Amino acid sequence: MPQFNDTELTAAVIESFEKTPDPRVKFLMQELVKSLHDYVRKTDLTFDEWGYAIDFLTRTGQKCTASRQEFILLSDVLGVSMLVDAVNHREREGATETTVLGPFYVGEHKVLPHGTDVSPHNVTGERMFVQSRVTDLKGKPLAGVPVDIWHADDDGHYDSQKPDYEVTGPSSRARFITDADGRFFFRTILPCSYPIPTDGPVGEMIRQVRRHEMRPAHVHFLVAAPGYEPLVTHVFIEGDEYLDSDVVFGVKDELVAKIEKRTDALMPDGKPAPAPWHLMSYEFRMKPGKGTAPKPMLAVAEDA
Ligand SMILES: [Fe+2]
Repeated sequence: MPQFNDTELTAAVIESFEKTPDPRVKFLMQELVKSLHDYVRKTDLTFDEWGYAIDFLTRTGQKCTASRQEFILLSDVLGVSMLVDAVNHREREGATETTVLGPFYVGEHKVLPHGTDVSPHNVTGERMFVQSRVTDLKGKPLAGVPVDIWHADDDGHYDSQKPDYEVTGPSSRARFITDADGRFFFRTILPCSYPIPTDGPVGEMIRQVRRHEMRPAHVHFLVAAPGYEPLVTHVFIEGDEYLDSDVVFGVKDELVAKIEKRTDALMPDGKPAPAPWHLMSYEFRMKPGKGTAPKPMLAVAEDA
């Protein structure tokens, strides 16, 4: 019967994965054991603390539903989501920067004509016109590219968080296909900063450690051009008070856009504008490569 001290134990557990057929799985499991054991040794973890961690993770799993992903939220607030993004996008070569997908992507969106108001039922938000273009690294326009967009309303919630979502359908969420010049444009409302969901274990942790729960205002974009790496990113609203302290660490300087406040009678597509309105202009530069667009994290509304 082997007797282990605390370091021999680690070696034995690592050794126990030696016969794993898949070398990548073997590597991942052995490194996980190393890191977890190091943590326990460094912190002299007590039984009470270990028990608390087990209970916290149990409750995190129990909080997950078809429309709620508490583990992704935990990954986000611990910076793991952005770290995975960072190690997978080390060389951008002038391509637009990436950031987290977030928990509110629900899959391919319905294609709408350019210029569509994607928040037609929102009567309180300030109106915004978004004009954009998708190009390669040299600025050559990419035509026929699907672009999914989604963002929170001016009350700080996504459509998929609302109880009547299955009935009312998508809002502030759509897909556009770039034209021959790589362009697409649409109408919506100016999103605001919003809190991550705080009614679960992640919220409990955020409060206990005196962090705030806010994300700076942004619009999500997922650009999936054949022959290019899928681009998952946000465009943030310049001037937001939470740009320097995003609870999920997702802000990059290049992704912050100046939003112009306008009083012109017409929007850029020549149609009448309510006054005042806002103009967001942003171009996406795609990096050549392969890859498939990420799948939604939630199982809600497959046709949204
Ligand atoms: Fe978001």
